[in-house]
Amino acid sequence: MKITIFTLFPEMVEPFFTSSIMKRAVEKALVSYEIVNFRDFADGVHKKADDIPYGGGAGMVLMPDPISKALDEYGAKGKRVVFPTPSGKPFTEKYAMDLSSESELFFICGHYEGLDQRVIDEYVTDEITIGDYVLSSGETASVVIIDALYRLIDGVISNESLEDESFSSNLLEYPQYTRPARYCTKSVPDVLLTGHHGHITQWRCDKRLEKTMLNRPDLLSNASLSIEERERLLKILDSEDKRNSQRWMLSEL
Ligand code: ADE
Repeated sequence: MKITIFTLFPEMVEPFFTSSIMKRAVEKALVSYEIVNFRDFADGVHKKADDIPYGGGAGMVLMPDPISKALDEYGAKGKRVVFPTPSGKPFTEKYAMDLSSESELFFICGHYEGLDQRVIDEYVTDEITIGDYVLSSGETASVVIIDALYRLIDGVISNESLEDESFSSNLLEYPQYTRPARYCTKSVPDVLLTGHHGHITQWRCDKRLEKTMLNRPDLLSNASLSIEERERLLKILDSEDKRNSQRWMLSEL
């Protein structure tokens, strides 16, 4: 996959591509990237890329010209162009999966009060929000979106790692433990030391249900639980009085 990022602050984005798992994905040629400073496409000695909003109001708006020249130069027109913005559609694992199947993606990093609407109308295919809060820069949001999607590309990380993680089957991930078996006063759950795969799988399944119930009960109504899983969920609920408040969720399943 080729990823092109249009930004006024390349230094905010570059380290992500030269570190950790992304670095390896780039070395293995599973991902290639280009970071474009669209100020280079602005006119005048000051290379001005933003201006005050028509109609008044606080802050500055990114001007259409520099960014559209950059988008044209890099052939973004007609391709999948993502613009992270608090007023976009919510980003989810499913959305990440959809984007990960593209061979080419473009990201426009907004700043200040945003981007001239005409550029959005002309080029942007996906306005995406990463959550109901406002960030000061589109760079951080772009990196979050890229991080979630590139790891789903075949060969970036093992399929096994993807299988049990949070949001697969609309359940959160089970807790993980490593050595030492005893840390401060806390021990690793006995079942994980037994080497009994069946019991470990069952324990992990219970923990996924339990954690989802506690932290994200909203996900359960979209989780296609087996009859056995529903029964286990009922058992978990019965054994824990404090979760009574979430009982109503079961009637929704
Ligand atoms: N830019 C600023 N806030 C954002 C958000 N919540 N999601 C995506 N892009 C943003």
